[in-house]
Amino acid sequence: MASTHHFALVVASLFLFSSLFVPSTATTRKLTALVQQQPLVLQYHNGPLLKGNITVHLVWYGKFTTPQRVILIDFILSLNHHIHAPSVPSWWKITGKYKNGFTSLILGKQTFDENCSLGKSLKTPQVTRLARRGDHRQAITVVFTAKDVTVDGFCMSDCGTHGSAKADPTGKTKFAYIWVGNPETQCPGQCAWPFHQPIYGPQTPPLVSPNGDVGVDGMVINLATLLAGTVTNPFDNGYYQGTSSAPLEAVSACTGIYGEGAYPGYPGELLVDKTTGASYNAVGIRGRKYLLPAMWDPTTSACSTLV
Ligand SMILES: *[C@@H]1O[C@H](CO)[C@@H](O)[C@H](O)[C@H]1NC(C)=O
Ligand SMILES: *[C@@H]1O[C@H](CO)[C@@H](O)[C@H](O)[C@H]1NC(C)=O
Repeated sequence: MASTHHFALVVASLFLFSSLFVPSTATTRKLTALVQQQPLVLQYHNGPLLKGNITVHLVWYGKFTTPQRVILIDFILSLNHHIHAPSVPSWWKITGKYKNGFTSLILGKQTFDENCSLGKSLKTPQVTRLARRGDHRQAITVVFTAKDVTVDGFCMSDCGTHGSAKADPTGKTKFAYIWVGNPETQCPGQCAWPFHQPIYGPQTPPLVSPNGDVGVDGMVINLATLLAGTVTNPFDNGYYQGTSSAPLEAVSACTGIYGEGAYPGYPGELLVDKTTGASYNAVGIRGRKYLLPAMWDPTTSACSTLV
């Protein structure tokens, strides 16, 4: 049995939440204040986290252009590079505060399934099957699906998922995996926000994406979210708030927040590239720019946007 954690941009539900709690009676207003002031705490459930050197294997399912692959690979390569803040590695360092101990992600093998051997409409077990291909020791396998591939839950509830499955028939060892879909044509308003007009909620103009590819820049946000969730809660017993079947994790607990002053529908204050007009908040290798979501910091019990 595979277990997965679903991650969707819940800007819409945040909005719904706030509109549910803004009726005109004084009692409910007080309730709103109470709800908003509750400190955000992700509890540790005593299970293992992924620490030390962890290899990230990639499975490309369907067609990706070379520039698209390079945007995602450069992001992974940036995670453990030395780059002055605000940078991709200064963002990733926050994961090291979870039970103190750094996680170095190392790019591993890439597998290509350009012609979609399992078809263009994947069920959840097929995603696990794709992730199963390869070596799982101290590793995370990431399955990327192309824009014309549909996956169970994609664009309905999920922009991607992470989970774990048995690595061998005895089930003694488990492997961790991630799936992220390219939302460019199927649901950019859900899974590539804030680079595309949101489907629901407050309408703000879309931001210019830092690498000129709305779908793939959205995938970076979702991959970042799921990598942080995987290393801090790989087997459903790490850090999360809520139930293990629908947990709020390191980044999904901070959904919709990218900079100071964020509120539902507004990603917060960001840096802007003077030449391209693109919004970003972190620099990666070769001067590449990325927009990364806020991450819960265990030392402050708050969503940190200072990357
Ligand atoms: C991780 O890899 C680096 C470089 O290969 C090595 O120096 C280091 O000892 C490794 N760390 C662990 C915890 O295995
Ligand atoms: C995928 O299909 C195309 C067109 O049929 C073919 O040219 C190509 O060699 C195939 N790629 C692989 C990796 O099998």
